[in-house]
Amino acid sequence: MSRNTQPTRRRFLGTLAGGAAAAATVTMSAASHDREETIPDRQQPASPNDQIQLALIGAGIQGTGDTATALMVPGVKLVAVCDLYDGRLTDAKKRWGQDLFTTRDYREILNRPDIDAVIVATPDHWHRQIAVDALGKNKSVYLEKPMVQQLGEGEAIIAAQKTSKGVLQVGSQGMSSLSNEKARDLLAAGAIGKLNYAEGFWARNSPSGAWQYPIPPDASEQTLDWDKFLGATAKRPFDPLRFFRWRNYKDYGTGVCGDLFVHLFSSLHFITGSMGPTQIMAQGGLRFWKDGRDVPDVMLGMFDYPETPAHSPFSLSLRVHFVDGTSGNTFLRLVGTGGAMDVGFDSEVTVKHQKTWDPLRATQGDYKSNPEPDARKEMVPAANIVYRAEPGYKGAHYDHFNNWFRAIRTGGKVIQDPVFGYRAAAPALACNMSYFEKRAIQWDPVAMKLAK
Ligand SMILES: NC(=O)c1ccc[n+]([C@@H]2O[C@H](COP(=O)([O-])OP(=O)(O)OC[C@H]3O[C@@H](n4cnc5c(N)ncnc54)[C@H](O)[C@@H]3O)[C@@H](O)[C@H]2O)c1
Repeated sequence: MSRNTQPTRRRFLGTLAGGAAAAATVTMSAASHDREETIPDRQQPASPNDQIQLALIGAGIQGTGDTATALMVPGVKLVAVCDLYDGRLTDAKKRWGQDLFTTRDYREILNRPDIDAVIVATPDHWHRQIAVDALGKNKSVYLEKPMVQQLGEGEAIIAAQKTSKGVLQVGSQGMSSLSNEKARDLLAAGAIGKLNYAEGFWARNSPSGAWQYPIPPDASEQTLDWDKFLGATAKRPFDPLRFFRWRNYKDYGTGVCGDLFVHLFSSLHFITGSMGPTQIMAQGGLRFWKDGRDVPDVMLGMFDYPETPAHSPFSLSLRVHFVDGTSGNTFLRLVGTGGAMDVGFDSEVTVKHQKTWDPLRATQGDYKSNPEPDARKEMVPAANIVYRAEPGYKGAHYDHFNNWFRAIRTGGKVIQDPVFGYRAAAPALACNMSYFEKRAIQWDPVAMKLAK
């Protein structure tokens, strides 16, 4: 979609009028000065012209959820599952059928000619290797976020995609949502004027929210492959905490930045058309969950996005808080000269205006010298305009899989290819680097390299 970086209120009102006419329901409350609109569902299910034979590598929390969603798309069949822990393989057979092929070795899956596509939902430290191997075998890959665990690992996946017949989609599903698409169109139409600031956060306040997952009572070196789990990381004696709570350790995970900031980067880059920030600074600490983890549970990141042909210059502030007594909150907010926009993960966008003066028309510096103090009054949009998906919307996760399967079937493009995925992962990983090295990181988002 072409992006207009000079939004005006006139263009936005025009868009609103068109959107309102097309929407199935529009309600407006004079008392609250709020308006609600329905976002039409634009993705009809793809008609299956060919069955896609799917396998899952990493059958834990997300791999199981990914597979359940993938199987909602018509014409997709699960034929094999790989995991390092036998309990997960037993569960997979119970869930999806005893005839499922199961293995602890993902290479057995990649060597099977009857498998077209794999979901990779292993811990982060295995992402690069399995994705490169799968693309090398011409399998299509749904690779969970963050695309890679380390800065400098993205290039290998980008290169592997260039020579593979498979299609790789990175799994930050939120950006496929109706809400992200609506937010992108609203920003381009001038709904909030010129973007100059964005913020996002995730707040949690429970053991499982803070990654203290249950350890299965039968976990042992007999029931799981500990050496394979360690892979290229430091050799250590068997430790079920590291295996089942891998997010808590730098060796295997990417901290809260790679786990959660990365979703916000994916959505923000999609909405603004940005390739990424140039300067990254982080603060944080381990404030509460002192259970042996070596990553912080509170993290603040600041990111500078200079002007590009796609967007005006803006600053970004991100926060993850695992000991937040208010709990359960997450949002992404874009703020501009003419309003703000809260972008829901799936199905809702709220545009907020509190018009007291128009910074696009006022002279800089001294508002009193506005050359048009007695100008004729204007029509102003509602203070809050809420866009909601139509009832029955299957959500971002479904859309993301549908987008991948459609690209596999048609030879088309995915919404989150390795270049996009690396540009979203890299600032999250650079944020960790800033925190641990106590310095600002300079990043070149076009070349996708650390800058001097
Ligand atoms: N998109 C999202 O919203 C979202 C949400 C949660 C997790 N994730 C991502 O999904 C991935 C998995 O997270 P999770 O919460 O499901 O973790 P999990 O620990 O529940 O599952 C990971 C599984 O991978 C298996 N495994 C480990 N190494 C393996 C290997 N080399 N080969 C095969 N299997 C291996 C483990 O035995 C485990 O069952 C992570 O990259 C995470 O960042 C994405």
